[in-house]
Amino acid sequence: MFEYLPTPTLLLDQDRTTRNIRQMQAVCDAHDVELWPHMKTHKMLEVARLQLEAGAKGLVCAKLGEAEAMLPSSVRRIFIAYSLVDPLQAPRLRHLAASLDELILACTSEAHAEALETLLATADLKLPVLMAVDTGQHREGARGLEGAMRLAACIQRQPHLELHGLYTHEGHAYGTANGNTQEVAATTHKQLLTLRDRLDSTLSIWPGCSVTAKELATMPGVTALRPGAYVFGDLSLAATQNIMQWDDVAVTILATVVDRPEPGLALIDAGSKTFSGDKTAAGLSGSFYDQRAIHITRCSEEHGFATGPQVDELRIGERVRVVPAHICPAVNLADEVTVICNDQVVDTWRVAARGKVQ
Ligand SMILES: Cc1ncc(COP(=O)(O)O)c(C=O)c1O
Repeated sequence: MFEYLPTPTLLLDQDRTTRNIRQMQAVCDAHDVELWPHMKTHKMLEVARLQLEAGAKGLVCAKLGEAEAMLPSSVRRIFIAYSLVDPLQAPRLRHLAASLDELILACTSEAHAEALETLLATADLKLPVLMAVDTGQHREGARGLEGAMRLAACIQRQPHLELHGLYTHEGHAYGTANGNTQEVAATTHKQLLTLRDRLDSTLSIWPGCSVTAKELATMPGVTALRPGAYVFGDLSLAATQNIMQWDDVAVTILATVVDRPEPGLALIDAGSKTFSGDKTAAGLSGSFYDQRAIHITRCSEEHGFATGPQVDELRIGERVRVVPAHICPAVNLADEVTVICNDQVVDTWRVAARGKVQ
């Protein structure tokens, strides 16, 4: 299969991508919840357009450079869910705000509120902000109810910040045992609503993670959801968490078997420079799409170590498709993806925001 393609390359199945986009949009529409997909997963204008055409209200980005790269998609609303602090970014921020109908920023702590105020004052912009709340991932966000009350009050004192709502990334859901996502969704929901009711009942509520998104869409009071990885899926979503079907995985890594140095081990031409260093909770970099029991258990830069039953039957030169552990950093390592439809190559899409980390 695909013997004529140079490898490694990322194969993007267009029908599956569209199906994943429509499914998530349908769940959000059915519950009157806005969908703001995180573009970090795909970083491609073509995919952003599919999401927006399906009904996404806006896009979420982490970095300013990602937001700038998405402008040609005709996106009109962007939420930058990241702690922006650098006053040198003021001119770029002004330009971005002028290019959109709505630009929302994140405020992630009291210390950050002051830095953000300086940035916005330098840019001469007053913008809506969503306040980060830590619901268990222990990265950015106010700690505990009292910490959140203090952060809200701090935001309200800043002349260039307008408190719009509460957001969280409940990414710790990836670490829960298979089947416990309902519990993480319920706890996240409770934490956000309790805080909102203490602060101001008009504040909007924005949780965001592919593991919990469909569950949270059904819960009262949720304004918007910000899943990212759902658009393509990966080993974490389709195997570890089991919240996506294997047949819904839309991007695989096409690689070539380059050696079989000893019984029980095959080497493929995709290593950490293709998969990234991310692994599943079980320590896997990937699993073969067509032979699910064959796993990439180790990577060096340009080699993936394939182990499992049937590896000794693999032929040198054979093409294999691998589902990566974590799709987002894998896409960010590629200049472009090969688009397929019914197993035929139909296009090549550029990863427009690749490496836009500034
Ligand atoms: C702030 C924020 N929002 C949303 C997401 C999307 O999460 P996922 O890719 O699990 O859907 C992420 C992922 O890292 C994130 O950091």
